[in-house]
Amino acid sequence: MKAVSVSDYRELARRRLPRFLFEYIDGGSYDELTLARNLSDLRQVELRQRVLRDVAHLDLSATLFGRQVSMPVALAPIGIAGMNARRGEVQAARAAQAAGVPFTLSTVSVCALGEVATQVHKPIWFQLYMIRDRGFMRDLLARALEAGCDALMFTVDMPVSGVRYRDYRSGLAGAPGLVGATRRFGQALCRPRWMIDVGLRGRPHSLGNVAPAMGNKAGLNDFFRWVGENFDPSISWQDLDFIRAQWTKPLIIKGILDADDARSAAALGADGLVVSNHGGRQLDGVPSTARALPAIADAVGDRLTILADGGVRSGLDVVRMLALGARGVLLGRAWAYALAGAGGAGVAHVLQIIESEIRVAMALTGCKRIADIGRDSLISG
Ligand code: GLV
Repeated sequence: MKAVSVSDYRELARRRLPRFLFEYIDGGSYDELTLARNLSDLRQVELRQRVLRDVAHLDLSATLFGRQVSMPVALAPIGIAGMNARRGEVQAARAAQAAGVPFTLSTVSVCALGEVATQVHKPIWFQLYMIRDRGFMRDLLARALEAGCDALMFTVDMPVSGVRYRDYRSGLAGAPGLVGATRRFGQALCRPRWMIDVGLRGRPHSLGNVAPAMGNKAGLNDFFRWVGENFDPSISWQDLDFIRAQWTKPLIIKGILDADDARSAAALGADGLVVSNHGGRQLDGVPSTARALPAIADAVGDRLTILADGGVRSGLDVVRMLALGARGVLLGRAWAYALAGAGGAGVAHVLQIIESEIRVAMALTGCKRIADIGRDSLISG
């Protein structure tokens, strides 16, 4: 199958990954209502078709947190992405860098900060959760600085993990020790290509950034246990002062869906925020980001840089998010599917697809520059 769109890569990922990994990427929480709304609400955004505006020369470049980017897109942090392809985060970071967009490394990545940073020439972004052990956080932030990361994305919508039925059904979560491991091994055996490329040649599979805190325990069950035991549900706005004090480079708060919370993020001095419901993986039934975004942009868009994610599967969707008020758009599942489907080359291809689709959407909405895309590009605007 030759992939020509993000949804083709989803299908490739479904065929190539062991079931537990595909379900982990693809799934949401509970009934997946928010996951579905992210997709459907974004597609319902109506753009204004404009004509005869000389769109021979288009400029897709933008500036995000002081850095010039080829288009206003960044790769979102995705946990255990390194299981989708051999040393997957390194491959994806390289592809992002070649395309001129930022890559965000998750705290719970397979490849450690140092491993990724030494394989790319430009700084990456680092994502962090609130972890009970503040000393460990301090150490992780110091490692991120040492690795040259130039922005911190601090996730605030996961004081506890959402309930994801698909992970229980697949055996990724909730199946103790040997039971879960045997189920996952059985699923991996059905994907021999993955088994050789990632299962055998992609080792170690421990979580590079947190392995030192996990001792010798490095299995996937240990990972979920570690997350459950170490993510700090007591997180509050006061804790953000702790982060601000440790991190003087751009700070982006990820997981804002409410205008009042957005105002608090601005008051705290955050440089940016991500309007996000964690891809429909946390509180099911909350509004899509496409619905939440305009009110947040109205509330704080002049005070910090607003990014958005959720349901973005094409360059047209990127333009829709920009029209709703985002200054930049995060790709999540889109790059995870591509990485699983065709490794770093798949991520590079998806970024090319997104770029050319943004170009077409700009031409047909009569926008020559990214800054021309706004409320005026919307039918209701
Ligand atoms: C982690 O952030 C997840 O959504 O699994």
